[in-house]
Amino acid sequence: MTRKNTSGSGGNAVEVRGLVKHFGATKALDGVDLDVREGTVLGVLGPNGAGKTTLVRALSTLIRPDAGTARVAGYDVLTQPRQLRRVIGMTGQYASVDEKLSGFENLYMIGRLLDLSRKDARRRADSMLERFSLTEAAKRPAMQYSGGMRRRLDLAASMIGQPAVLYLDEPTTGLDPRTRNEVWEEVQRMVTEGATVLLTTQYMEEAEQLAQELTVIDRGRVIAGGRVDELKAKVGGRTLVIRPADRGELPRMVGALAQAGLDGITGASADEAEGTVSVPLLSDEQLTAVIGLLSERGFAVADISTHLPSLDEVFLAVTGQKASAPAEQDDTDALQEVAA
Ligand SMILES: Nc1ncnc2c1ncn2[C@@H]1O[C@H](COP(=O)(O)OP(=O)(O)OP(=O)(O)O)[C@@H](O)[C@H]1O
Ligand SMILES: [Mg+2]
Repeated sequence: MTRKNTSGSGGNAVEVRGLVKHFGATKALDGVDLDVREGTVLGVLGPNGAGKTTLVRALSTLIRPDAGTARVAGYDVLTQPRQLRRVIGMTGQYASVDEKLSGFENLYMIGRLLDLSRKDARRRADSMLERFSLTEAAKRPAMQYSGGMRRRLDLAASMIGQPAVLYLDEPTTGLDPRTRNEVWEEVQRMVTEGATVLLTTQYMEEAEQLAQELTVIDRGRVIAGGRVDELKAKVGGRTLVIRPADRGELPRMVGALAQAGLDGITGASADEAEGTVSVPLLSDEQLTAVIGLLSERGFAVADISTHLPSLDEVFLAVTGQKASAPAEQDDTDALQEVAA
């Protein structure tokens, strides 16, 4: 595993214990425990209504939890809300920019509210506008911005004060791929500069890109957690993917693997669209056995690789339900490809 940042004392920047928040009969948070180590990104993954936004709002002191404790950068959410608010930055799922002000004015105003000098506020505002490709639109009122521009401005606003702890609540939902990459780069840069990030997301790819650790929540409860690679490994073994040099060999390869009766190998399947054969593996011995068999039978192989389960599969395994919209979108695409 690569660790982008190992700074700090290795302590936790965020510590949440037994956090509870009910809205009437809805248990939005039903006893959540989690830690975010200093200088790292924790991905909080969960479907719609899991409690992600409620968690972020509680950790920002915007709502008061019914029970449990939470400390952020050493400050208690209940007893030290003012100190806590000074060290956090937050990007809401629903962008919160002042429509009448220009992009620059929005950022400058926030800088001033954070006690930056006029000069520093101006410099930070300019640099954040630049980083999020908003320089050209800097003087236009935010009401004229597109959804993506607004989101970028909101992100820039959350980073103006270089907060020690940054909450990003589904920061890239609805953004185009280029803008999404920009956001990811900025988040990584913040972490390199020492920030700690709590990121909620419904995108597996985003969690995989940015987070070292993951907490999966569902209906207000933590249902799984750990390092991204550990969580993936927990769900099952690896899958071996073989691409024969000649696509026409797919059926023969599957047949050979099925008939060989290799120990513990339960199945090989062809993906005609991809031109590959997949074999679930439980051990290194099986990997050696499959490769041995292919070479023995004289198959020409163009590519061979092993994969841990995807986060979509992790999610399916731990919640018993499919991860939300983006994943389903992928499946639809795949089906259309097969049909085409
Ligand atoms: N202010 C509120 N009043 C009543 N119910 C609420 C309130 N805020 C959240 N809830 C409920 O609490 C549960 C958790 O909501 P929350 O917004 O935290 O989910 P989420 O994980 O952020 O979902 P999404 O992915 O859709 O943003 C939901 O059932 C929601 O309807
Ligand atoms: Mg939400």
